[in-house]
Amino acid sequence: MPERPSLRLDDAGPGSRTPSPWPRNATFTPRGLEIAGVSAEELAARHGTPLLIVDENDLRARCRQVREVFSRVLYAVKAFTAQALLRVVAEEGLDLLVSSEGELEACTRAGIRGDRIWFHGNNKSDRELALAAERRVGAVIVDNVDEIERLTREATVQGIELPVLLRVLPEVEARTHPAIETGAKGSKFGTPLGDALEAVRAVRAATSLRFEGLHAHIGSQVLAAEPYLRTVDTLLDLLRDLRRDLGVTARILDIGGGFGVTYADETPLGLAELASTVLARVRAGAAERGLDAPQVVVEPGRSLVANTTITLYRTGARKHVAGSPTLLAIDGGMADNIRPMLYGARFTIAAAGPLMSEQTERVTLVGRHCESGDVLADDVTVPAHLAPGSLIAVASTGAYTYSMASTYNRVGRPAVVSVVAGRSRMWVRREDPADLDRLEVPPAGAIPQVQPPEGIAIRAARPQDAASFLRMWKAVVAEGVHVRTEQVRGTVRSYRRRFREPWSDREAWVVAVEGGRVVGNLHIQREEHPVTRHVATLGLAVDAAFRSRGIGAALLAEALRWAQRVGVEKVELSVFPTNAAAIALYRRFGFVDEGRLVKRSRKSYGYEDEILMARWIERD
Ligand code: LLP
Repeated sequence: MPERPSLRLDDAGPGSRTPSPWPRNATFTPRGLEIAGVSAEELAARHGTPLLIVDENDLRARCRQVREVFSRVLYAVKAFTAQALLRVVAEEGLDLLVSSEGELEACTRAGIRGDRIWFHGNNKSDRELALAAERRVGAVIVDNVDEIERLTREATVQGIELPVLLRVLPEVEARTHPAIETGAKGSKFGTPLGDALEAVRAVRAATSLRFEGLHAHIGSQVLAAEPYLRTVDTLLDLLRDLRRDLGVTARILDIGGGFGVTYADETPLGLAELASTVLARVRAGAAERGLDAPQVVVEPGRSLVANTTITLYRTGARKHVAGSPTLLAIDGGMADNIRPMLYGARFTIAAAGPLMSEQTERVTLVGRHCESGDVLADDVTVPAHLAPGSLIAVASTGAYTYSMASTYNRVGRPAVVSVVAGRSRMWVRREDPADLDRLEVPPAGAIPQVQPPEGIAIRAARPQDAASFLRMWKAVVAEGVHVRTEQVRGTVRSYRRRFREPWSDREAWVVAVEGGRVVGNLHIQREEHPVTRHVATLGLAVDAAFRSRGIGAALLAEALRWAQRVGVEKVELSVFPTNAAAIALYRRFGFVDEGRLVKRSRKSYGYEDEILMARWIERD
């Protein structure tokens, strides 16, 4: 398309042109968009869409760049919390800023030590404060006086001296979208300036807390230096008062994050310029007030990740509606990127497939969700007459997209992959229906009473069932979808032998029979190890022509009765995530998800995950 954007990022430096919103290693070739040498088409074909693609080397470069100009940098993980991303950021020497137990857990699970994590938030729970103390976090950024007392308790329990910063409300307008202004008068964040002395006094009075400095965060997507300078002045004034009135010196001045980025045509300040202006103001301002210059800490989120990432979508339905440009629907929308709806955010968009036509048209890209406001981009230029299934790339989707994603309309969250030098790596798996089911709790209670359907008998297998069973089993296996087995090895003889003792303390072979024909079967077997003998595992199959009639349910009820009779306490099974009908049956019988074994089955057509489900059996 003629208006293909330039994909060179020419960041930094005063007077630079508007930086590119695309990742540094993204290029448009005649074959379409490539990121770090990997084509968008290939990634979409392999991982599906919507798909987030992170240019990992770009991320590393941005981390290094900010570290070069600010001596202490914390990444605000709320912007994008994929654990692989957290590891990259930590490898590049940045520390991490978290605002919840979940974010703290993500960092811990990513292998990051507590002392590299700072904890902030305007309403931390007791549990979060306890965890912060337990994990020996690098600092807690206290928001208000009430929190000080609770934090003191938790730090005392741990017998430590916990470093503390006080967040103040500097009453500075960041001049950004009102929803992400956080330092202006009336904001819910931080301690009002007038109460700051009292708060610091309380921190100093607690022997388990050590006062380290002041914190402010004025907002997000801030495009000018001036609000930061006013924040610095306010914080330095407060430091002067603290020294004068309480004799306190502070080591740290944390000015928060919020550095703006280019989404469409915004021109943010270059980082180097911002840093030199801010640091100069701190040095001069401290000297004027007779203070030692404190260490400046920054907490960028968006500016580290936003431009490193793109989202790929495929186009779908197209509509001509009177009074507006052509509507072109994509296979994602407000669930994976709520920012246009929440903040009126605008993104740069381009066709990502091979260049087919020089002609362009104006379209409005609408999402797939059930709300009229689900519009990703209003009136943008794309190649004319994009065929359904064409790839569209949206730039700068690394920050506050995945981390704010929902599963509205029960659409699973997208996959995230990273690309480096021609290779891609999965960072976060796509959320599938089995993941969406994970938290559902089925009705508890007794084993359901199930009547087998008319004409079907449910009973223990008999040796003479062997041939019929094997025919059915081979047919189910030949379908190639629902069961692990791809090659039936058992013979009529071997099954005849097994069916001689179909109902023991160790196992049960149950069949569903119509006339003399086996149309379904179930096998349940208990573990032999003394420590796991209370557990049994089951597998079941029903002939394709006999499904959806309640045969599976009747077999399952019989298996659970066996388990109850022989004293098995827990029944486990594994099922492919795609087998919705089976999962539904197990749920109805009180089975819950216990986990997922990734690529547990290697079938002839590729790997399949297995979902582990289980239910407990009540005593009679
Ligand atoms: N520090 C604190 C205390 C924060 O609250 C935040 C973000 C940051 C640092 C990082 O700010 P950043 O550098 O990423 O702008 N959902 C909104 C943004 C909310 C920002 C919340 N706080 C959006 O999509 O624009």
